[in-house]
Amino acid sequence: MGLLQDIIRNAKQIKKTIVLPEGDTDRTLKAADVVLNTGIANIILIGNPEIIARKVNEFGLNGIQKAEILNPVDHPKREEMKRLLFEIRKAKGLTLEQADELVNEPLFLGPLLIKAGYADGEVAGAEHATGDVLRPAFQIVKTAVNSSVVSGAFIMIVEDSTYGEDGIMVFADCAVNPNPNAKQLAEIAVASAETAKKIAKIDPKVAMLSFSTMGSGKHEDVDKVIEATKIAKEMAPNLAIDGEIQADAAIVESVGRKKAPDSKVAGVANVLVFPTLDAGNIGYKLVQRLAGAQAIGPVLQGMAAPINDLSRGCSVDDIVNLVAITANQAQDEA
Ligand code: ACO
Repeated sequence: MGLLQDIIRNAKQIKKTIVLPEGDTDRTLKAADVVLNTGIANIILIGNPEIIARKVNEFGLNGIQKAEILNPVDHPKREEMKRLLFEIRKAKGLTLEQADELVNEPLFLGPLLIKAGYADGEVAGAEHATGDVLRPAFQIVKTAVNSSVVSGAFIMIVEDSTYGEDGIMVFADCAVNPNPNAKQLAEIAVASAETAKKIAKIDPKVAMLSFSTMGSGKHEDVDKVIEATKIAKEMAPNLAIDGEIQADAAIVESVGRKKAPDSKVAGVANVLVFPTLDAGNIGYKLVQRLAGAQAIGPVLQGMAAPINDLSRGCSVDDIVNLVAITANQAQDEA
């Protein structure tokens, strides 16, 4: 796929450092080996060095010798990371003793290494649930300036399709916020437009999805999307964005012309912002399965540094690709 190849090519040029907290597990080790052998990124592996050494031998992973390996319970940066965690979380009541325990946790150590400047981004989640990856990331790396909410976008690629930008679309939020309010939904829309530009390399045309188009339905859920559209337009006056709009009116030109004739986005939208996580998560999975779309992500947006969460069903290739995407995000945030 052309887009992914471009992302990988760019990652090789910028050579960012990505931390992998699940560093002694099979798929992550195999992916790190590919990343290091192909030069996609520098890698910090967090994991038990003895397990890593055994698996390197077992699987013949010669690329791993280029990785920096950190044993989470015993490494030269441990004291520095413990102090950093304490400083970041003491206002929330974290004690030094608790910091001493938590810093042993790979999913805490990863974001701490980013915060301290040793790594540019993190990929995790092959072995952990989304919440376990995101909570320490939110607590330590936090949101970007001008952002109050982190959300998860998917780049959807449908072969031989004319919808969106020749079959390329961005969907959000499909991963994080169960029920965003209007202000949060507006932020998600603006962040998704940035992801569309920087990662999917398309000119964003954003549709704020609803079960109503331009006042056809009346409900408080519709009001939320109308309000979010208004806020998003204020936040990004030059952005092509419209709503509230139904999915067919957003992506099918003939329907868009009929239901929203005055809209510049109707019928040609390539960034779809869903009103709730239910809608977004169900929507992307249906398109992935029914239309055979490639779903790249979730790409987390709105964080101060890129941390991305894998599905536990991921393949080695999925991990390699997400490392490349994370490196690209790190370039944009540098
Ligand atoms: N953006 C930014 N910061 C956030 C967000 C957010 N969306 N959500 C929580 N935080 C911050 C909080 O402000 C808090 O910071 P603080 O401790 O410094 O004050 C910290 O994160 C922890 O907050 P909690 O309230 O303890 O976290 P919560 O229990 O809300 O969990 C989580 C957050 C895990 C992301 C939750 O919203 C969640 O489970 N979302 C759904 C994830 C999911 O299951 N997705 C579907 C699967 S993914 C897929 O299919 C691709």
